[in-house]
Amino acid sequence: MDTITIARIIHILSIVFWIGGVAMVTTVVTPLIKKNGFEIFDKVEHQFSKQAKISTLLAGLSGFYMVYKLNVWSRFLTFDYWWMHAMVLIWTLFTLVLFVFEPLFLDKLFKKYSSSHPKETIRFISVFHWILLLFSLLTIGGAMYGVHGGI
Ligand code: HEM
Repeated sequence: MDTITIARIIHILSIVFWIGGVAMVTTVVTPLIKKNGFEIFDKVEHQFSKQAKISTLLAGLSGFYMVYKLNVWSRFLTFDYWWMHAMVLIWTLFTLVLFVFEPLFLDKLFKKYSSSHPKETIRFISVFHWILLLFSLLTIGGAMYGVHGGI
């Protein structure tokens, strides 16, 4: 088995743990806040945080390794490969939130805002997670379409 195939397997397994977790939070945990308050959400997000960090890191490493090995940097210059841009965009967004914004200020801001404006916070969390999830699913679909003969 060549190293590109190994990287591809690592890439997809990371996406399963990462985007699968996002789907779980969006469709299962977030609706629970409405009935049970923020405690459950806080605990799940805290527990998921490590898994999300590791899988984001592995998805990025395996992804850039494939770009390097396949030598497909030029794809970033054309919109035909929009799904390549979408992959890097989602990855950058999560990397910033998990490794920079959360430890710096997002955690504190969330705790403060959720106690003073609980209803608005629930709505924001729900909408934000749905946007992330739908964009991630679109990207996964786009990548499968692009890699397997769509273009
Ligand atoms: C730094 C971020 C990322 C980079 C550099 C990257 C790069 C790549 C590359 C080079 C490929 C192989 C393309 C080919 O075989 O022609 C690939 C495949 C794929 N990537 Fe990413 N990716 C990244 C993040 C993501 C994210 C965030 C997702 C999901 C939301 C994702 C989902 C996929 C899927 C589904 C495939 C198709 C695998 C296949 O069918 O062979 N990637 N990625």
